[in-house]
This record gives sequence, C-alpha cells and structure tokens, in this order.
Amino acid sequence: MTPARILVVEDDRIVARDIAQQLARIGHSVVGMTAVGTEAIEIALDQRPDLVLMDVRLDGALDGVEAALRIREQARIPVVYLTAYADDDTITRASMTEPFGYLLKPFDNSQLRTVIEMALYKHNAERRLHESERRYAATLSSIGDAVIATDNESRVTFMNPVAEALTGWTLRDAASRLVGEIFVTDDARGGPGDAHRNRHVSCADLVSGQEAQAWLVARSGREIPVDARGAPIIGDHGDVVGSVLVFRDISERLRNQEALRNAQSELARASRLTTMGELAVSIAHEINQPLGAVAVNASAGLNFINRDPPDIAEVRQVLHEVKADARRAADVIRSLQALARKAAPEPTRFQLDELVHEVLALSRGELQKHRIQVRTRFDPASLPWFADRVQIQQLLLNLILNAIDAMSVIDDRARTLNIVSEATEDQRVAVIVEDSGMGIAAQTQEKLFDAFFTTKAEGLGMGLAICRSIVDAHGGRLSVSAALPHGAVFRVELPGAGELA
Ligand SMILES: Nc1ncnc2c1ncn2[C@@H]1O[C@H](COP(=O)(O)OP(=O)(O)OP(=O)(O)O)[C@@H](O)[C@H]1O
Ligand SMILES: [Mg+2]
Repeated sequence: MTPARILVVEDDRIVARDIAQQLARIGHSVVGMTAVGTEAIEIALDQRPDLVLMDVRLDGALDGVEAALRIREQARIPVVYLTAYADDDTITRASMTEPFGYLLKPFDNSQLRTVIEMALYKHNAERRLHESERRYAATLSSIGDAVIATDNESRVTFMNPVAEALTGWTLRDAASRLVGEIFVTDDARGGPGDAHRNRHVSCADLVSGQEAQAWLVARSGREIPVDARGAPIIGDHGDVVGSVLVFRDISERLRNQEALRNAQSELARASRLTTMGELAVSIAHEINQPLGAVAVNASAGLNFINRDPPDIAEVRQVLHEVKADARRAADVIRSLQALARKAAPEPTRFQLDELVHEVLALSRGELQKHRIQVRTRFDPASLPWFADRVQIQQLLLNLILNAIDAMSVIDDRARTLNIVSEATEDQRVAVIVEDSGMGIAAQTQEKLFDAFFTTKAEGLGMGLAICRSIVDAHGGRLSVSAALPHGAVFRVELPGAGELA
C-alpha cells in the first residue's frame, strides 16, 4: 500500500477524529480536517492532497456534493463520499461529480482501507489515461497528415490542426457533425491525376479499407487533391466504436508527376522523330509505291477513255484502284503526321485492327527487306480501344521494330511476326507481339524496360522504356516472356474501352 495524504471533510467532529485515527493506523497521513465546504476547497487547493474523504452533509452554505464539484473543477483530486444515508436524489447528485467511491457510515477499518485503495488506484489509472490521451493528441497535432476521428455514428470527435487547415473547419465547429459534412469530395471531377476514374468514394468506403485519391472540397469551396485512407476503431468487445480518416495534400506530388509526364512526352516525341528518321527510306518507298501505281493506272485510264468507243467499265475499275492507292499513301502520311506532332495524350476510341494495319504499313519496307512473314489474328471482342491512338501506334511500332531487329540475325528458321489480340477475363484488352527471333537471356529480362538499356550497337535503349511509360499512363500492364520454341513475346494489357468510357 502507498501511503496517501488525505483531507477529511466531516461535520461530526467525533467521527472525524475517529477516521483520522483509522487512517493513521492504515499508514496514511491527514493533511487537514474541516467541517465546512468552503474551507475544504481552500485546503484542497493549498495542500493538494491525494484524496478527499467528503461527508455529504456539511456545516455552512455548501454541501459535500457542491464542495466536491468545485474541488474537481479546480484540481483533479479524487473524492470519496462519506454518507449515513443514501437517498436516490443524493446519489444522483453525487454521481454527477464522478466520485471515486462511497463509504456508508458506519464503516470499519477494512472498508475504509479498501475504498481508499480503490480510489487511489482508479485515480492513478485515470491519470495515466489522460497522459496517454495528451500524448496521442500531441503526436497527432504534430504529424503532417490530416486526421479526423469520429464516434460510432460517424460524428466528428477529433481533428488535428492539419485536418483543420485542409478542410477549413475548426474542431470546435465540426465537433458532433457528421464526418460527411466535413470531409466533402468533388466526385464529378474524377480522381486527381486520373480524371477517368470518377468512382464515388464515401467516408465509409475509406473506413472499410479502400484507399482513394479525391478532390477535397474545403469549407471555402477551394478544391485540394488528397490521398485518403481510413480505419475503424475497435472497442474492447470487438465492436466498432468509431473511425479515423487520414488524408494528405498531394498537390505537390501531382505537380511533380505532371512535370515528369511532360518530360516523358517530350522524350517520347524525340524518340518518335528518331524512329521516323530511321524508317525514312522504307516509308518513302511505302508512299512511292502507291503513287507509282496511281500514275500507271491514270495513264491506263486515259488509254481506255481514248478508245473508240471509250471502255467505261475499265475506266471505272482503274479509278477504283487509283482511289485505293491514293488512300494507302494518305494513310501512311497521316500516321506520320500524328507521330511527329507533340500531342498531349488524349484518349479516343479506335479499332485496334485498323491501327495495327497502319503500323504495319509504316514498317512494311523493313519487314520485306528482312523477309519477315506477318500473321495477324484479332478477337472481335478486343477491337474497340479507348486510349491515346498516337501513343499506342508508337508502342506497337517500337515492339515491331524490336522484333524485326531480333529476327534479322537468324537464318536457320522462318522469320515470323505474330500479332494477336484478345479480350481478357477481367474486362481488359490485350495485344500480343510475338517474334521468332533470338529471344531474351534470363539475366537481361528485367533490365529490358530500363531507359538506355540496349544490346544493339546503334540502339538508344529508349524503345521499351517509352513503351512502359505509355502503358503505365494508361493504367495497363506490359510484360515479356519467352516464345516457344524461339523468340520473345510482348504482351500489352489495357483497361477495356467499356471501363474507361
Ligand atoms: N523482341 C525482342 N527480342 C529480343 N530482344 C529484345 C526484343 N525487344 C527488345 N529486346 C532487347 O531489349 C533491349 C532494349 O530494347 P529497346 O527497344 O528499349 O531499345 P533498343 O531497341 O536497343 O533501342 P531503341 O531505343 O532504338 O529502341 C534491346 O537492345 C534488346 O536487347
Ligand atoms: Mg527498340
């Protein structure tokens, strides 16, 4: 037992002396004795006893309950009531002062001892709890994340200064309001950094474990991009007694991402121009060929017209061919223009097979030069894509040029390029570029996508790095594996057109 310093407040002097003796016997010391409420308050504030034994009925204007209340308000000293009668009204009033125990008079030595022990123990536990609460509050006030805590009805019980600054609400104004009134997000605007994702995320979703990026609408109307998480607060009995919401301002991160994206798209454009430079000869050939055909067909058309009578059926046939050839040349030029422009990424709807044929047209010269056979197979369900058309064109062009490089060195087997598309089980679309080239050594497989990694004398090592950043920007996946028995397989998976629409 720890000896305690005790104030005895008792209007019956004989009882008071008796209690003092009992306390001395147990080992406690009495720091004061009085029968008057106002005096009791004075002594308590002056002496700071560990405990007050307080008679409910006292001399003077203040009764014990009133005196206890003031002592509790001014100094958190635990009070144990002494009372000879315990009518409901007294008990109710006394309870409101949160006493640490009652002693019903008359009481014996061991009752006194037990109640004092319990009161001191409880007070100590309460003090430690207050301390730890203060420690947590201090910690939460000093961290950089915003924190809002609620009770089990989602009403705000706590906000740290960062949460106050971001939401524009003070804890005082927000207390007891529903957290949904304080943590408001602009769902119409979509996710920061990814406007296509405009799923609604409620506070309840966050508490149940979802993480989300959202536009927080502050009280002033200002919108701030935040990263938010939440968790339930579980009580002693495994029940949910509240929740915490933690969020942070990500404006800075978004600005950096934006700068990085700009740098990447600059780089991607530079790389497109380089690729076009390399392809210039075969592209010129690709345009020249239909132009030559146009010229031949045009003279043939003139001949058919000059006949007597003019052969209109032949003229019609020849004009159809002229039209088709002109379109072929125009297609090549159009895709070249798109590749050369520095267009900010903008997703549009397009058909994958058309795009693949355009890219094959750009690389046809190289494919023919290296005697590479091309096979395509498209799953109709995977044809509609919603993505940045130019970027996907660049992606495929890079994969195809790599495949050509990988096959141009082999002579003991057929050189085949397979381009296959499929719809995946999880609503995505995939395009697979497979070659029968030299394949990829296991140890280089993971470096392949690093910028400047190349095994070619004239390579820059940027092709696959750019492919990866394009796929990442679309929220997709890019992977590589070995083709059987020879070669490499690159697989691009993107969210399906339906999901993004
Ligand atoms: N289909 C493939 N088969 C075998 N190896 C490949 C294939 N595709 C890429 N690689 C390997 O990955 C490396 C990196 O490819 P990446 O396209 O990034 O750069 P590069 O082709 O060397 O140069 P460039 O910047 O001109 O594209 C290549 O040097 C090559 O070693
Ligand atoms: Mg390459």
